Order: sequence, then structure tokens, then C-alpha cells
Amino acid sequence: MESLTQFLTRMPKVELHVHLESTMPGELLDQFARRQGRSLPRSPQDLYRCSAEDLSDFLAFLDRICSYVGRPEELTLVAERFSLACAREGILYAEAILNPTHWSQFSPAQLIAALTEGFDRGQAVGGAQCAFTLSLSRTQTEAEALRLVETMAACRTPRLAGLSIDGNEALTGPTGRRFHAAFHRAGQLGFGRTVHAGESSGPEGVREALDLLEADRLDHGVRAAEDPALVERLVRQQIPLNVCLSSNLALLYRDPTRHPLRRLLDAGAAVTLNRDDPTFLGDLTLTEELRRAADFAAMTREELIRCQETAARAAFCDEATRARLLRALTAFRQTLV
Ligand code: ADE
Ligand code: ZN
Repeated sequence: MESLTQFLTRMPKVELHVHLESTMPGELLDQFARRQGRSLPRSPQDLYRCSAEDLSDFLAFLDRICSYVGRPEELTLVAERFSLACAREGILYAEAILNPTHWSQFSPAQLIAALTEGFDRGQAVGGAQCAFTLSLSRTQTEAEALRLVETMAACRTPRLAGLSIDGNEALTGPTGRRFHAAFHRAGQLGFGRTVHAGESSGPEGVREALDLLEADRLDHGVRAAEDPALVERLVRQQIPLNVCLSSNLALLYRDPTRHPLRRLLDAGAAVTLNRDDPTFLGDLTLTEELRRAADFAAMTREELIRCQETAARAAFCDEATRARLLRALTAFRQTLV
């Protein structure tokens, strides 16, 4: 039998939870910083060797590194590089998250145009098919959230797949009511809706995401495992959970044995596996993330393929793309017998 690494390298992959802000190579940011007459706080190689103590620290650092990108063409290059890097490791389709609050130098309309062009260029030269969601921060107001959704509608491109929300729920407390109208409107407009919940919030954050934000998918969702009735609901409704094991072990679970990946798989939850913040996790590849998950939760190869199928089914893509992804996975499975 081929090694696990060979198997994972060959497997067609789909990724739904990766922040574009956390994919920017230090060397590229160094070039961008110099154009502004600035310099990075550390050498490009060490840029991400920082000690983010917690999620809030980490989010503040994201603001800082995004400020080195001074022109929309530079963001376009970041998106193109991401699409190419995905293709190099066999990712067929990826949905990146971009949070406009980290990018005060650009308007949401500029962000949408820059990312669309970068992903178009990447795919045109052999990169992965990429789409993106725009993400609200938990600290924004109801009016800001509604304004973002209306801009998304006005500047819509085929690569703009949906609305998401991230940030530190532990600091803001419940915000479901504040963002209900924006998420409802996004749904009316046909955008996908995905919500960071069950990471810095517990089961109550997951319930809010489902009941008030009408989430189609959950980013993380792992702390739902603290409430058996909620897990039963997630399984019954087959709500996709975009789990990020390495990120969770770095930021969330001091005791790794408490991470519920194995329990969620055994319960029949719709789990996908993702990187979240690759540059901060040692330039983590999706292939390596899957290897770690396989190792951590003793996942079988069939389970690993099933997670990719779950991601293909949960993607905010058109039906032709979904069928292409599922066909590639079926063809891959047939090479194994
Ligand atoms: N933004 C980037 N990474 C994040 C995470 N892990 N949780 C919340 N917001 C984020
Ligand atoms: Zn995330």
C-alpha cells in the first residue's frame, strides 16, 4: 500500500476554511513594505515566528501585516499566488475568507475586484479554482454589516461566494441579534453563509449561528461537542463543520486530548478538514494538516476521502463545479481498489 503521505498528496482536495490574510509569504510582504518605505518588524523568514498568546493578540497582528499591502495589485498577486500554491498540492477548489476590517486601506469594492482578478489569473495559468467569502468582525455594528452585504450585491462577481463572520466571540459576547438582518439579507441575495462559532464561543455560539444567523456551515464548530444534544442536531441536519485541528491545538486546546475530532467523526458529523491560518502554523500545507488529522484521530483513508466529499458538497459553488469535484473523488477512490 502507498504511504499515507503519497495517498494524501494524490488525493484531490477541497478547502473551505482558510484566511487569505494568513497566506501571505513573508518575502512578498517584505517587497510590499519596501515600496511604502517601511520595513517588517522581523526578517521575512521570521515574520510569523511570533508568540500570539491568544486569539486577540493574533487578530491584532493580522491587522499589522495586512497594512504592508499598499496597492490593490499587490492583493491581486497574493490571491494569484494562493491559487497556484493550492494547485501545487492537489487542491482542486478552495474558498478563502477575507475580512475587510483588516484592510482599512481598501474599500470592500476594491477588495472584491482585486481578489477576483487574482483568482482569475491564477486559474488561467493552472492554479486551483478559488472563490472567497467576505467576513464581518464581531465588533462591527448592525449598520456596517448591512452596508457590507449591499456592497457585495452591487459588486458581485462569480468568485464572491458568500458572507462569513470571524473574530473573538469571547470578547464581544453574543452578537447573533446584531447580525441577524445582514445574514438574512445575504441569504435572500443567494450568498452562502458561514460563521466562526464554537471556537472562542461554546455551544451557545453555535446555536446562535444556526438560529439567528441562519448559517449554512460552521467554521470550527468543535466546541459544540460540549453539548450532546447540539451534536445530535448538527448530525441530524448534517451542518458542515469546517474543523481546523492544528489551529485549534495552537490557540484553543491546551490539552490536545480534549479535541473532539474523533468523537465528531464517530457521531456522524459532516466534518471537513482545513488549515485556518497557514503562515502562522509554520507554512502549513493542507496535505500536512490532513496527515496530522489522520494521525491524531486515527482516521482511515475512507474517512479522509469522505471529508473531501463533505467539503465538495458544502462548497458555495455552482452545481457543475460540485459535480466535477465529486467525480474527481470518485475516480480517486477507484484507483485504490
Ligand atoms: N481570523 C483569522 N483566524 C481566525 C480564527 N482562528 N478565529 C477567529 N477569527 C480569525
Ligand atoms: Zn478561521
